[in-house]
Amino acid sequence: MSDITGQVAVITGGARGIGRGIALELGRAGVDVVIGDLLSVPEIAEEAATTVRLLEDMGRRSFALQCDVRSEEDLAALMATTVDRLGRLDIVCPNAGICNLSPATELSVEEFRRTFDINTLGMFLTVRAALPTLLAQGHGSIVATASITGLRGTTELVHYAASKAAVISMVQTLALELGPKGIRVNCILPGTVFTGISAAQMDKHGVPDEMKEQILDQVSAGTTPLGRMQTPADMGQAVVFLCQADNVTGTSINVSGGSAL
Ligand SMILES: NC(=O)c1ccc[n+]([C@@H]2O[C@H](COP(=O)([O-])OP(=O)(O)OC[C@H]3O[C@@H](n4cnc5c(N)ncnc54)[C@H](O)[C@@H]3O)[C@@H](O)[C@H]2O)c1
Repeated sequence: MSDITGQVAVITGGARGIGRGIALELGRAGVDVVIGDLLSVPEIAEEAATTVRLLEDMGRRSFALQCDVRSEEDLAALMATTVDRLGRLDIVCPNAGICNLSPATELSVEEFRRTFDINTLGMFLTVRAALPTLLAQGHGSIVATASITGLRGTTELVHYAASKAAVISMVQTLALELGPKGIRVNCILPGTVFTGISAAQMDKHGVPDEMKEQILDQVSAGTTPLGRMQTPADMGQAVVFLCQADNVTGTSINVSGGSAL
């Protein structure tokens, strides 16, 4: 296993939820972290400031930048500013994503395209923006956030499941292309984590805010061999493992407590 202390990571969608979990676990492993997220949305800017403060409280260097993963310009600036301010770039986590439930019969072409633009093309553009730096130095670890829905069908998520299956596929192809150049590419497959995405899905089923986490936890506990919902920290720990595991590439780690086997 590699020692990743002192390395620098960029995480897209790192302001909150799973991205924050990844940021904090990498921080605990000694990694400095840059967050790229939609800071033009005031609520996201506040969440990003909290993530940065939590990292700084651990003694890590950290800052957040406005970055929409649909924008090659934003992504280029995110990578360049990271290297300018922190001196290096070792770990890239394309994590930004959206997930809006819709039966196939009601799904709009716009929502299908938006999901692919952010979850799929956004992952690819994030990797590509980092490649000039990673290739020049001959090392790097890329860990994307896909989903167990990329492995199996999920009702009302035809667009989302396909967008994440494409991420799993890109991880395999990129691992083949980039392995000989010293760059490893892997992904995590989260199961069920209580975050902004899952809370918004429950809005569509009329679940009151105060009951959302408890209901999700109860449903997960009943359908998960390990008996509990997953947490952002569970995801971060899997990412840290993939960053340290220096002979692992092209793989997807299922972090669902065994709920999708
Ligand atoms: N929560 C779950 O149960 C679950 C399960 C499987 C996979 N995932 C995946 O985990 C990742 C993180 O989601 P989460 O659950 O933490 O949800 P979240 O909504 O809490 O976090 C998503 C983050 O991505 C950011 N984002 C959205 N669109 C963006 C864009 N265009 N550019 C940059 N940033 C953008 C948001 O601002 C937010 O900070 C997503 O890729 C999601 O598909 C989540």
